[in-house]
Amino acid sequence: NDKVLITEEKLSKICELLKENIEYYNWVGFYFKNGDKDELKLHAFAGEPTDHTIIPFGKGICGQVAVSNKNFVVPDVKAQNNYIACSIFVKAEIVIPLFVNGENVGQIDIDSHTADPFTHKDEDFLEFVNGEVAKIL
Ligand code: SME
Repeated sequence: NDKVLITEEKLSKICELLKENIEYYNWVGFYFKNGDKDELKLHAFAGEPTDHTIIPFGKGICGQVAVSNKNFVVPDVKAQNNYIACSIFVKAEIVIPLFVNGENVGQIDIDSHTADPFTHKDEDFLEFVNGEVAKIL
């Protein structure tokens, strides 16, 4: 329906803005819980298309955040054993869960081509972004 389309457009804009304005944000996307299934589904994103549009809970960095409800900062993706590679250029990743009324409904996922770029400032900032997004869902 219209509201869903408008929301997806806003999410796309947010992804584009983040990717274009922060040089070490090379791929930005929002995954959300897919209906009542124990899996995530990719919604809006900016950057190269990925094959990983559906991610089962527990799999990869994203799937782990779906069950832990906690921020996951990965300074070096090569050091992770439960990791889903989307691009050979990616060196680091950050995933921040998105809560609506205390429920983990999805997440923002950012890949970087820069090694170890993410700090607490990124966590704080992306928590703020997700808080704003939660208001328009
Ligand atoms: N690397 C993620 C998969 C999603 S891509 O980064 C777009 C993961 O391990 O869950």
